[in-house]
Amino acid sequence: MSKVGILGIGSYLPDRILTNFDMEKMLDTSDEWIRTRTGIRERRFANDNEVTSDLAAKAALKALEDANLKPEDIDLIIVGTNSPDKLFYPATACIVQDKIGARNAAAFDLQAGCTGWIYATTVAVQFVQSGMYKNVLSIGAEVITRMMDKEDRYTYVLFGDGAGAAVVGKTDNGGFLGFELFADGSLSKYLEIPGGGTALPFSKEVLDKKLHYTTMNGKEVFKFSVREISRVSNIILEKTGFKVDDVDWFIPHQANLRIIEAGVGRLGIPMDKVVITIDKFGNSSAASIPVSLNEIYQKGKIEKGDKILMVSFGAGMTSGAMLLEWSK
Ligand code: UT7
Repeated sequence: MSKVGILGIGSYLPDRILTNFDMEKMLDTSDEWIRTRTGIRERRFANDNEVTSDLAAKAALKALEDANLKPEDIDLIIVGTNSPDKLFYPATACIVQDKIGARNAAAFDLQAGCTGWIYATTVAVQFVQSGMYKNVLSIGAEVITRMMDKEDRYTYVLFGDGAGAAVVGKTDNGGFLGFELFADGSLSKYLEIPGGGTALPFSKEVLDKKLHYTTMNGKEVFKFSVREISRVSNIILEKTGFKVDDVDWFIPHQANLRIIEAGVGRLGIPMDKVVITIDKFGNSSAASIPVSLNEIYQKGKIEKGDKILMVSFGAGMTSGAMLLEWSK
């Protein structure tokens, strides 16, 4: 099997910052509740004139620059998102293709809840490994805050907008060492947008009952997430023959600091190896892992040969993990 890794990475976070104190002015909530229950201090909201493809395109251009490639060098764009520009079609990936001028690229979206970028990148690697494509852009991008009810303190305080992108291609050394993807659709009701799709098309009732916004059973999602962090990590480590001690960086999906701490505690990874960005960016859904990976990359913390374990969970319910040996 040829080695496939990340040739370039980039992210984009909107410049509009909403702190917990801003949330206090909008909702019956407090900085203290949000901080102690979730670890979030502030999050980014897209500006009113920004849509998901704008964030995705900016992250993609940075990843291309980092990889020293031009937009025309890209063969395929996959956008993992739960907040596409348009509800059913066209795919946000097609809009990104146009915005960055990747005129040789095929493009499609992939919907896997917050696990979207793990799924998208796993798919990207298969295309490169099969020899069908050389350079694939795998993007996690969200303007997820627009899918939340502004009056629902339970969900509105949790989420943030952002995008992260990676150019996936062949490498001489290192690269991806393993993947695990899971889904359990019997749990799909725990995190969903009930209205606006074919199950319950838009109507006055959907709007009046706010069924076009996110509904969540927080406690069930919490339990699922803690369990999946350790379960999926243990499976990928066992299959690839590595131990927890071999992991240099652990990047969990940034949904709740308490979920991360509980999952990491079960796994036995020291917190100084765990990347935390939820305090600054909230839960940016499919964007959270590439954004977090880029944070430590930009700070010069990753060394060639480092083993990076990335694990996510989310709507579907889905979960997934990738083990990467950094090759840049
Ligand atoms: O990417 C995956 C997406 N989602 C998640 O990962 C979410 C997973 N779940 C969670 O993170 C947590 O369940 C939450 C942060 C959503 C909630 O934390 P919790 O510790 O499970 O809180 P709770 O549901 O037990 O609520 C405790 C109290 C309730 O009041 P009462 O009934 O005890 O009087 C809530 O009404 O906190 C109240 N509450 C709030 N208070 C202030 C709920 N939201 C807020 C809020 N501010 N924003």
